[in-house]
Amino acid sequence: MKKAVIAMFALVAFAGTAFAADTIEMKKGVKFNHKAHQATVGNCKKCHEKAPGKIEGFGKEWAHKNCKGCHSDMKKGPTSCKECHK
Ligand code: HEC
Ligand code: HEC
Ligand code: HEC
Repeated sequence: MKKAVIAMFALVAFAGTAFAADTIEMKKGVKFNHKAHQATVGNCKKCHEKAPGKIEGFGKEWAHKNCKGCHSDMKKGPTSCKECHK
């Protein structure tokens, strides 16, 4: 029984990484390459303050503060409307 439970957890954890979309389609034509950001940013906590997954209160305000904020801090990545909203 114990073994089965552990196997189940392993499966769920694996499925989570295997099926998370590489690119997330957002509102107003924004394509967010999650996989590339995971690679360049590295630290999940930069975007996921709590646990990785859906971000509480995600939307325009969060995005313009955090997405644009990081791009201008790092001087890398788009900061103009048209570069994100295609
Ligand atoms: C540059 C910002 C950023 C980084 C770094 C980042 N994520 Fe995300 N992640 C997001 C955004 C934005 C979403 C979509 C949130 C929403 O729709 O609520 C998301 C969604 C997710 C989801 C939900 C499933 C999906 O694909 O839609 C998981 C799981 C996740 N991230 C895991 C991780 C893990 C694990 C790491 C670190 C290896 C990580 N993220 C790093 C921004 C980031
Ligand atoms: C913690 C820093 C950080 C955050 C937060 C972040 N980015 Fe980026 N982003 C980068 C960096 C660094 C690059 C440049 C990567 C390169 O040139 O190799 C980039 C590049 C991009 C690009 C151009 C390349 C591509 O992947 O198509 C887009 C579009 C983009 N980011 C959208 C977003 C959106 C939308 C969000 C918020 C949901 C976001 N980013 C949040 C650091 C960040
Ligand atoms: C770094 C990328 C980025 C830049 C630059 C950016 N945005 Fe956004 N914007 C986003 C993201 C991501 C969202 C949230 C998408 C979602 O909720 O799915 C968003 C949301 C919005 C929304 C709300 C859409 C809705 O239906 O909820 C509007 C309007 C908007 N942006 C206009 C602008 C304008 C105007 C500019 C230039 C002054 C701009 N954005 C610059 C990434 C960006």
